[in-house]
Amino acid sequence: DKAGHRHFMLKEIYEQPTVLSDCLRHYSDGTAVTIREGELDFAQTDRLILVACGTAHYACLVAKYWFEQLAGLPCDVDIASEFRYREPPVSDRATALFVSQSGETADTLAALRYARDKAARIVSVVNVPESSIARDSDLALPILAGVEVGVASTKAFMNQLGALAHLAILAARQRGRIDSAREAELLGTLRSLPGLINQALALEPQIEAQTRRLAEAQSVLFLGRGAMFPMALEGALKLKEISYIHAEGYASGELKHGPIALVDKSVPVVVLAPRDGLFDKTVSNMQEVMAREGRVWLVTDAEGGRLAGDGVWHRLVMPTVDPVFAPMLYAVPAQLIAYHTALHKGTDVDQPRNLAKSVTVE
Ligand code: M6R
Repeated sequence: DKAGHRHFMLKEIYEQPTVLSDCLRHYSDGTAVTIREGELDFAQTDRLILVACGTAHYACLVAKYWFEQLAGLPCDVDIASEFRYREPPVSDRATALFVSQSGETADTLAALRYARDKAARIVSVVNVPESSIARDSDLALPILAGVEVGVASTKAFMNQLGALAHLAILAARQRGRIDSAREAELLGTLRSLPGLINQALALEPQIEAQTRRLAEAQSVLFLGRGAMFPMALEGALKLKEISYIHAEGYASGELKHGPIALVDKSVPVVVLAPRDGLFDKTVSNMQEVMAREGRVWLVTDAEGGRLAGDGVWHRLVMPTVDPVFAPMLYAVPAQLIAYHTALHKGTDVDQPRNLAKSVTVE
């Protein structure tokens, strides 16, 4: 049942304010994270290892910024298919965390089994509580996104971030990095997100209009800095999955180390950049793109839009959000850009060619 929407993907994009609220209520009472101290002890762990595939891997990459910046916890993020065969050393004080919507992804499950007798604790973040990955974990944390049908993951990504954000806040508290006032403040920011996501969804007509032009491109670049870098990767993955346009995500600072060679007027560059401490640097990256006739689609907030100056191809003005959790809000335009580009191209949004919802074989 698509609940009146044309595709499951769009239905699931629109479910995000509701399912995220469910997730937030599950993991905090609004002022403190409610995961019990006995279930997870980040004070005793010397390293967090996050392993996943695809979009879940990008959720882990976002979470690395949170665990390191909020909790001071060293954090490795790996692609499951690399982790399992590289056979990396795993300290017996490490916590290994596996993220999977389906809980059945073959590589992620194999990576979990590799880590099982090495790491101190095996934790999973899953959407399907009775899945193999959940069953093989010491602790399985649900994301409560409800059934996700669209092959392109949207609401599961949002709720993976929701669950991981609470783990990072818990880690920050357990490691003595934040006091209870700061914990309540961070949780308050998370609680404001469903409302902000609704505001971002209201930008859909504008996104729909602009993607008409994006759909003509052969190739699209996505740029972001800090925790928006993984969002650039996610935006590119969504676009290539459902529109079949070649897309790549890059850290903005990497632009002049190679990808700028691709830039000309035929390659749109989507810049995901809320106004944050690094915004000025991103503006200079954009100027480098525009100096080569590149067309910049800037996704930012009102302040960022003002500071960016003239010359951008399109400016999408998002609601203002605390930069820490901005990746969750900016997931929405990334999803809608992919969705509407695919509609303009006439591809099968819910069942993209060559892809399966759950990759249970290598
Ligand atoms: O079920 P999982 O979260 O383990 O799946 C991982 C990837 O296969 C999945 O995220 C894939 O990249 C999606 N199609 C992305 O939209």
